[in-house]
Amino acid sequence: MNFDLSEEHLAVKEAARDFAQNVLKPGVIERDNEQRFPEAEIKQLAELGFMGMMVDPKYGGSGMDTLSYVLAMEEISKVDASTSVCMSVNNSLVCWGLEKFGSEEQKQKYLVPLATGEKIGAFCLSEPEAGSDATSQKTTAIDMGDHYLLNGTKNWITNGSSASVYLVIAQTDVEAGHRGINAFIIEKGMEGFVIGAKEDKMGIRGSDTHTLLFNDVKVPKENRIGEDGFGFKFAMKVLSGGRIGIAAQALGIAGGALELATAYSKERKAFGKEISKHQAIAFKLADMATEVEAAKMLVYRSALDKDQGRSYDQSSAMAKMYASKVAMEQTVEAVQIHGGYGFVKEYHVERLMRDAKITQIYEGTTEVQKIVISRNLLKD
Ligand code: CAA
Repeated sequence: MNFDLSEEHLAVKEAARDFAQNVLKPGVIERDNEQRFPEAEIKQLAELGFMGMMVDPKYGGSGMDTLSYVLAMEEISKVDASTSVCMSVNNSLVCWGLEKFGSEEQKQKYLVPLATGEKIGAFCLSEPEAGSDATSQKTTAIDMGDHYLLNGTKNWITNGSSASVYLVIAQTDVEAGHRGINAFIIEKGMEGFVIGAKEDKMGIRGSDTHTLLFNDVKVPKENRIGEDGFGFKFAMKVLSGGRIGIAAQALGIAGGALELATAYSKERKAFGKEISKHQAIAFKLADMATEVEAAKMLVYRSALDKDQGRSYDQSSAMAKMYASKVAMEQTVEAVQIHGGYGFVKEYHVERLMRDAKITQIYEGTTEVQKIVISRNLLKD
């Protein structure tokens, strides 16, 4: 096994780190306070080719592998998880889903502007009564012959108002259960499509999370993705890859907390010496570093599974479950190491702690990851 990153991977990591530290960091506290979407920053991210990292260059992407994407997500998430969730949804849910399962026409029309970052995408599966239980879709898309008629409500949609292209999961045949679900491409501005309330969140406050309402939206037939009834499998396949992105986000949040806590402990003095020279703090840092490294192994391993053509349903669920736990636990430790300073916004760790929590919830809760892992383990 070779644990060394290639020159190309190191270059991506360095570019992402530079962007995070120099472009994202200066305004991150303000954006969090004001719940302001990083519009200008996302444009710059697109110029770096980071909004369609894994998309083939013939569709406007950067043609990189999943490991490159993970390295970029990790560095950006060390500083700004609100920006990285927008990047993650666009890259691994929307662009990947369209490139893998969309028609050539859909790719030309929708994937190209999404991969170049000219447009932003959103993935709409969750509903008021369908979160973990994703087959219980109440949103319906009735076949009207030459179009579908879409009605329903979607909740907690990342990029809810900043997106222009929405992948919406809906039930087309109630009797058929999950085999009667389809995925559709919806454009902002379609008649009957309303962007509802914005959520006032604990963390990732710079990202725009909205309720979306669909009232008799006429969806052209050619906007359905894949064969009739493919929508649930589409969502599951897309989410397997999405979980690698969120695992990388969690890894970044934990790594960012470790970097801040290490630097602070070398500066702050108490009882006559730097606090890093007190074993109570040094041991905490040792535990944190070990946990972050263990999470890194799972996240990179899952990215390699995807890049090398192996199944990654289980490894992505493991990576997300473990890295998000590490993010939550280690950001709490980083706040503790900072003492009173950790509790104020200026020192960044309280934001990382607030941002960490969502990584245990979105793209499948920790409990959903356990369902996926145990079913993979126990299948005949
Ligand atoms: N690939 C292909 N097919 C899959 C699959 C996969 N990874 N996982 C399941 N399927 C198929 C199954 O084979 C089955 O098909 P057949 O009956 O034809 O064999 C079908 O899908 C139904 O599967 P299950 O019986 O396993 O379904 P379930 O109802 O028991 O649910 C679940 C399983 C894992 C809990 C699933 O519902 C799930 O993942 N829920 C969580 C949803 C989620 O992650 N939501 C996040 C919203 S998106 C988001 O957060 C984005 C954002 O904004 C950041």
